[in-house]
Amino acid sequence: MEHVRSFIAIEIPECIREDLSRLRNRWRQPSQNIRWIRAQNIHLTLKFLGDVPVAKVDAIVRKLQALCEETDAFHYNLTRLGVFPNPGKARLLWVGAESFREQLTQLAKKIDQALINLGFSKEKRKFVPHVTLGRAKSPLPRDFVNSFLATPFARDEVEAREIIMMRSDLRPTGAVYTAIKRIALRSL
Ligand code: 2AM
Repeated sequence: MEHVRSFIAIEIPECIREDLSRLRNRWRQPSQNIRWIRAQNIHLTLKFLGDVPVAKVDAIVRKLQALCEETDAFHYNLTRLGVFPNPGKARLLWVGAESFREQLTQLAKKIDQALINLGFSKEKRKFVPHVTLGRAKSPLPRDFVNSFLATPFARDEVEAREIIMMRSDLRPTGAVYTAIKRIALRSL
């Protein structure tokens, strides 16, 4: 059976992606083995689906459409830098997102819930709205992490008007993301 590796995401406006790339350049040090996300690939994941049978894609899209018809567009902003799993063992560098009244978290939960009937398992981990900037193969040195976390970064609010079901093709040169379907949220 044919599969597509996919996830559901919110697109980050290009001007912010460029800002994040510039910020990242300050942290690009040959001594650290970090794979930085290319500017065009920067996004906020709401739900990772993994390998999905192609035959299921339409049903997923219909579920998402129904959900988006009753979910208002909302504003969010990217506020602070963070790391996973914790500063002592940091391997993933990110910028956190916040929304007024937690709409991001609610949307991720709704998507998670809506897809259970289609055979996707419920997310066990707490949803932390974040935009991954880079990944390291091994834990990063504490002084590097501390200065990363201390970097000021705050952007004006942006509106999330749609969600995207994204296809991810893993190539030797890096992941290539293509939108399978863009689904509008209810306009404000
Ligand atoms: P991350 O940025 O926090 O790593 C595409 O791979 C997107 O799906 C990434 O944004 C990634 O989130 C997310 N994702 C969540 N769980 C994943 C998993 N088990 N494997 C790969 N990507 C995952």
